[in-house]
Amino acid sequence: MLKEKMLNAINEQINAEQYSSLLYLSISAYLHDQGLSGFANWMYVQYQEELSHATKFFDYVVERGEKVELKAIEQMPTTWDGIIDIYEATLEHEQLITSSVHNLMDIAIEEKDHATQSFLRWFVDEQVEEEANVTEILDTLKLINGQGKGSLMLDR
Ligand code: FEO
Repeated sequence: MLKEKMLNAINEQINAEQYSSLLYLSISAYLHDQGLSGFANWMYVQYQEELSHATKFFDYVVERGEKVELKAIEQMPTTWDGIIDIYEATLEHEQLITSSVHNLMDIAIEEKDHATQSFLRWFVDEQVEEEANVTEILDTLKLINGQGKGSLMLDR
């Protein structure tokens, strides 16, 4: 059993993780079209990871005996302004997801829901790792100005 506020917030998070997965799949499609198949594959892996995040939340709601409410997923962008723009947008998106995970944790603490706090710890740690990975790639891209031979080498 979950308190209503907690359940609603987790259902929103399932939608956010589904949106994240489709955002990265859309970026992957764009990168393939740009001939950057290495970056496209990296984004495809992110797509799969985000799907697994949505599934983790889904399974948790079911395990607690509650009902998942799936919602419409907002249209994601389909075009970007180069590789630096893509990684900046990705970092910004992950920061948004981090704040929604922290908001879930705040609710779990407020509701004295220890089981959900324990469940959410994995996501808190995962967000630290995801932001660090994206930041590292973004810093390297900025060093090489996001174009030319450097980008192609990084793509490989
Ligand atoms: Fe599921 Fe990248 O946050």
